[in-house]
Amino acid sequence: MNIPEKMVAVHLEKPGGPLTFRTISVPAPKDGEVLVKMSAAPVNPSDLQRINSVSGEQEVSSFVPGIEGSGTVIAAGKGLLPRLWMGKRVACSSVHPDSGTWAEYMVTSASFCFPIPKTISDEQGSMLLVNPMTALAFFDIIYHEKHRAVINTAAAGALGNMIRILGKKHNIPVINVVKNDQQSRNLIKDGAEYVLNNSDSDFTDKLRILSKELSATLALDPVSGSYTQLLLEALPYGATVIIYGNLSGTGEGTTLRPLLLENKKLHGFYLANWMRDNGMLKTIRNLNKVRQLLKNDLRITVQNRFPLEKAQLAVDTYLGNMTAGKVLLVPGQMN
Ligand SMILES: NC(=O)c1ccc[n+]([C@@H]2O[C@H](COP(=O)([O-])OP(=O)(O)OC[C@H]3O[C@@H](n4cnc5c(N)ncnc54)[C@H](OP(=O)(O)O)[C@@H]3O)[C@@H](O)[C@H]2O)c1
Repeated sequence: MNIPEKMVAVHLEKPGGPLTFRTISVPAPKDGEVLVKMSAAPVNPSDLQRINSVSGEQEVSSFVPGIEGSGTVIAAGKGLLPRLWMGKRVACSSVHPDSGTWAEYMVTSASFCFPIPKTISDEQGSMLLVNPMTALAFFDIIYHEKHRAVINTAAAGALGNMIRILGKKHNIPVINVVKNDQQSRNLIKDGAEYVLNNSDSDFTDKLRILSKELSATLALDPVSGSYTQLLLEALPYGATVIIYGNLSGTGEGTTLRPLLLENKKLHGFYLANWMRDNGMLKTIRNLNKVRQLLKNDLRITVQNRFPLEKAQLAVDTYLGNMTAGKVLLVPGQMN
């Protein structure tokens, strides 16, 4: 395949945005790396956190956003794995701040690429790593720590939906917490058994009663801030809250009382650390499970697609209604 010298990549104009685009050199893979011609990449909350954390003139000027995506390996650096992936369609994740998935081409480590079978589309494959792998990691934790039921906050989002679906598959009752009546109705329509709306005045009481009744001793919390405090107080004795995101944007406000007096536990979760701590074999095993699940159970809704040149509009569309589904950046997409 002919590799062009130049490509379009999403560009951060200044710290915090806006996102525009520019033409830059196509990067070359070093030893152990591959060059991926990108097919699609989602806008995830972790991308927005990453974009907001980039500062300093040098860092901003070279930064190319995008953590996960899919594409085809078209060039390989030295090494067995890069050679093995040559010509393959892969789900991939970025490792260099100046080479993200929101570009026509990305250089990344071959060990951050995973072949996708024909049965999985480029679009679904572009979202294979972050959310499905996290959902599976949570069920590993649920089994390992012997939790009988789980509380799933931000349940109407992509990952929240996966946790609900896997709960059903594994016979683990899931208490789904949503923000409003519309989300609540949608989840019930989709077959959710336990749905609580956190804008109801009696929400905390309902949560306390239901988590006791079902012995829900684990809460998965991507909202954090005062929400975490509320969960810690409502859960049964000895329960655990895992914080894995900061959708509230506040991220503070937990007091020590439930931790000290009620033997409750507060943990953090970050997928990259979990994958590192659990080793390559477990990661490969979970990836195989994800491939199976994506074929049927875990299909992720896509609400819209934008070309790289419209990255800011893509982000604004996503933030306007996260629950409506993922927004994808697709090189060459007409929009
Ligand atoms: N730690 C890790 O390794 C890891 C891995 C994967 C994902 N995550 C985290 O998981 C979270 C969910 O990701 P996703 O891809 O599923 O996102 P998503 O599909 O965009 O869904 C986000 C959901 O959260 C809701 N939401 C937004 N702000 C909220 C708030 N302040 N309080 C309650 N609900 C709120 C949204 O509702 P509206 O549409 O009404 O706003 C939407 O239903 C993110 O925080 C992400 O960073 C972490």
